[in-house]
Amino acid sequence: MNPLKPADLHTDPSLFKGMDVYAVTGNPISHTKSPDIHRRFADQAKQKMHYGRLQPDTNAFALAAKSFFDAGGKGMSVTVPFKLDAQVFADVLTSRAQLAGAANTLWIKDGKIYGDNTDGAGLVRDLLAQGIALHQSRVLLLGAGGAARGVIGPLLEQSPKCLVIANRSNLKADELVRLFADLAAAKEVALESRTLSDLEDSKKTPYPFDLVINATAASLIDESPLSIQATAHVFVPSSFAYDMVYGKNTAFMQQALQRGARVSDGLGMLVEQAADAFLMWRGPELATLIDPRAVLATLRS
Ligand code: ATR
Repeated sequence: MNPLKPADLHTDPSLFKGMDVYAVTGNPISHTKSPDIHRRFADQAKQKMHYGRLQPDTNAFALAAKSFFDAGGKGMSVTVPFKLDAQVFADVLTSRAQLAGAANTLWIKDGKIYGDNTDGAGLVRDLLAQGIALHQSRVLLLGAGGAARGVIGPLLEQSPKCLVIANRSNLKADELVRLFADLAAAKEVALESRTLSDLEDSKKTPYPFDLVINATAASLIDESPLSIQATAHVFVPSSFAYDMVYGKNTAFMQQALQRGARVSDGLGMLVEQAADAFLMWRGPELATLIDPRAVLATLRS
């Protein structure tokens, strides 16, 4: 059986002779904006390439990725739920992909599959581009799953004053604090864990945050991880609330707006992580030719 079915939306590299072929892989994948983003980067940098979509069954990532690369595919973006599979699939990982525990970008070089994670760098660049100062700021990260883990390293690199990781259950948040303790110490960041209910208690949450990032899956089911009491403690009008999902005004964003805070969805992060992947694949010298903020503005318009 060829796992690259016709339903895989023109991703079989053998259909594109003479052209480098890339794909985004996820399940579901029909909603993705990645092909549009990469087509715009390719136009800006005058690159002849094709970028398609691939939707393997949830237990069939490795089979589909192997078929794609065996058929001549050059690189792959990886999204939910396959970032852990992608990390396992790669022969060689960048240090940030190792620390993130997941890979969102794969490519082949000299017969080996390389894996990187550009999510955290994408988030940080989007925040900085929106004028959010991270150095010496108080940051609250909601969630302790893969999405949260992927951004902790790059956030710590910016030397915030503190990074508090809050999750429904404290076990996973404690584990992340342990995992990143050395980096936090090196960057002189107070890295702490809380439960979401700790955020309702002014003794356990004595100060509001400059930046609150929602990395939980709550927005996907139209819920917010924050209770009304918690929003009163974590937000002030100078706070910035960032939801990693894009394309909707989430319950979390609405809560922040009600407290007078500024908000952003995660579309800028998506574009910025894609820019890193594009440069990894096509060459860092193209950095001066692509304009992620212009691509973002077009997607928003
Ligand atoms: P991902 O890789 O997208 O981060 P995940 O590893 O399943 O997915 O993690 C989902 C995160 O969202 C977890 O932190 C989860 O909290 P638990 O560890 O307590 O399960 C969090 N989450 C999911 N739904 C939530 C909800 N309705 N409210 C608050 N947190 C939620």
